[in-house]
Amino acid sequence: MSIVDLPLLPLGKGRDLDAERGVECPGDLPMASDPSLVARVRAAKEALGERVFVLGHHYQRDEVIQFADVTGDSFKLARDAAARPDAEFIVFCGVHFMAESADILTSPSQRVVLPDLAAGCSMADMARLRQVEDAWDALADAGVQDTVVPVTYMNSSADIKAFCGRNGGVVCTSSNADVALEWAFGQKPGAKVLFLPDQHLGRNTAVLQMGIGLDECVVWDPRLPGGGLSPEELRRARMILWKGHCSVHGRFSEDVVDELRAAHPGINVLVHPECRHEVVLKADLVGSTEFIITTIEAAAPGTVWAVGTELNLVKRLADAHPDKTIVFLDRDVCYCSTMNRIDLPHLVWALESLVAGTVVNQVTVDPETEAEALVALQRMLALPGRSHRA
Ligand code: 13P
Ligand code: SF4
Repeated sequence: MSIVDLPLLPLGKGRDLDAERGVECPGDLPMASDPSLVARVRAAKEALGERVFVLGHHYQRDEVIQFADVTGDSFKLARDAAARPDAEFIVFCGVHFMAESADILTSPSQRVVLPDLAAGCSMADMARLRQVEDAWDALADAGVQDTVVPVTYMNSSADIKAFCGRNGGVVCTSSNADVALEWAFGQKPGAKVLFLPDQHLGRNTAVLQMGIGLDECVVWDPRLPGGGLSPEELRRARMILWKGHCSVHGRFSEDVVDELRAAHPGINVLVHPECRHEVVLKADLVGSTEFIITTIEAAAPGTVWAVGTELNLVKRLADAHPDKTIVFLDRDVCYCSTMNRIDLPHLVWALESLVAGTVVNQVTVDPETEAEALVALQRMLALPGRSHRA
């Protein structure tokens, strides 16, 4: 397949994906091939009316995102969830950490539903609370804990957000990581940042936007004793980056950027800040999914773009902008497999269950974690302004 041919795979159509995955879904999950699914979503949404609010992340499948009341990146969706106090049910078409954040930001009477609970995030799973607490103890042993401000990417579990809340830290997203870092460095003289769990977003933001040197960044590997760092290295560092990454954005490579530039002189390379630093250095522009969308919308007809982010979004941009050439920045097809777990059968099942009076797949955060995580999320929502770019 040529690199400029956008792969259009009818994933999930006509297949019983749950049978293939061996995942059992409680209740009657409709077959993916059922031709009435679209009409059933419409009917269920109509029956629920204002009681339900459906949020859709930009990486969701077309078959699902068409039913979202609002679409957005994780920052926008967190704000949108908080802005709908009247909706009894928030159906989150995204992944688990997003649904948790929505539960934290909504009132106790509102219920958040994730149509498939197996829609997690491998990056969020790379930082466990016990591991982070071990790192925090090591920072105390090195005599620097008092100067460290923890900053966690939205792509983390609620208990990591709570850790940041109770330790003077903040949540950030790819839309505002620079503003969050500026806030963190302003919290105390000689502040250092412990950045969780995406080393790439942390490094790209620190080096490219804050002017911090690569030699001032160290990587804490939770699988190594002492994170693989000496107390002296911890004392010298300004950015302590957790060794986590996104397996989807980690696929984009410098080689493909070079190949595309050779094949298409004048091509613009636009990537998400979860990409590796070497790839971001070779790109023309870097920013969140929302930034990627607005950049392509504003681009002149006839321009050529290589986009390094999740494929559902890149395909949708290509379809929406036939006057521009938009190609995927990878040789192979690569969707985020967990984002893709939310499909039409799961959405139908979740909505029809609500119509029938049963809340399925509710995502809840315990009150203590919620209170501390809310502190860190509210600090983020109160940050001045907002930048889309890393
Ligand atoms: P944003 O929504 O912050 O752009 O993040 C991308 C992502 O990987 C979500 O999982
Ligand atoms: Fe997680 Fe990456 Fe998928 Fe986003 S794209 S949900 S960071 S694995």
